[in-house]
Amino acid sequence: MAIPVESASSSPLGVGVAPRDRPHLTVVVATSLDGKLADGTGARGRFGSRADRAALESHVAAADGVLMGGATLRAEGTAMRVIDPAKIQSRRDRGLPPQPVQIIATQGDLDGALPFFQQPVPRWLLTDEAGVDRWRDRREFDQAIAIPTTAAGLDWTCALSILRQRGLERIAVLGGGRLIGALLLLDAIDELHLTLCPLLIGGDRAPTAADGPGLPLAAARRLDLVSVQQIDEEVFLSYRRSRNSP
Ligand SMILES: NC(=O)c1ccc[n+]([C@@H]2O[C@H](COP(=O)([O-])OP(=O)(O)OC[C@H]3O[C@@H](n4cnc5c(N)ncnc54)[C@H](OP(=O)(O)O)[C@@H]3O)[C@@H](O)[C@H]2O)c1
Repeated sequence: MAIPVESASSSPLGVGVAPRDRPHLTVVVATSLDGKLADGTGARGRFGSRADRAALESHVAAADGVLMGGATLRAEGTAMRVIDPAKIQSRRDRGLPPQPVQIIATQGDLDGALPFFQQPVPRWLLTDEAGVDRWRDRREFDQAIAIPTTAAGLDWTCALSILRQRGLERIAVLGGGRLIGALLLLDAIDELHLTLCPLLIGGDRAPTAADGPGLPLAAARRLDLVSVQQIDEEVFLSYRRSRNSP
């Protein structure tokens, strides 16, 4: 049986998406003290403690969807899903399905043998027309959605609008740095939850919390600090989009 596929028409390039036309985006990452998400080898980069993983699970449990870049899935091999029965029950009580949909963004290929494809979670793929052709007769994803492309990759203005139209109101963005950097350029980050871990990794190829071309300092996005919590050697920082943002 072929998976449902769909194409979307492109949005005007360079036009951001109004908050009401996109999901609320919550970025959740753990960084080293020098701001790295991983080392520069493309290997698995989640180095937070058990407390960090518990915090991550809470953010996943609060979301309708979880968004990851293809490189992160290739490195991690699995998705963070909701495991705590109390959190699953809480989702059911709110009328939500037990698991948020796991959304992978890639124009490349993925190994169908990754453990991710055995996890009991709904899976959507955001890709380009060629990617949809590649996945058309495969069963790994419940849906493959063709997104128009720009020189920088998938057109996130369009992709976010589609996800909102499909009923996703809250998305947890779990990285990596290139995906978060693309959303930063669109000014689409509503919350940031960052666990500062007591490591120094270094390296000019190591992904950071926001990669890609970045913004000039004068246009840097400002966030309001909401909370600071220390657990053992880690610091949990929560920010939200500044009230002074347009
Ligand atoms: N410490 C943490 O909390 C944490 C969290 C997440 C990830 N990580 C680590 O970060 C590393 C991966 O991060 P990464 O920055 O290299 O990659 P990434 O952000 O996970 O994925 C980037 C990929 O997203 C896809 N993409 C499609 N359209 C895009 C667009 N317009 N802009 C940007 N990306 C687009 C592309 O996939 P294709 O190239 O497949 O087409 C691109 O290569 C891994 O080592 C992972 O373990 C750590």
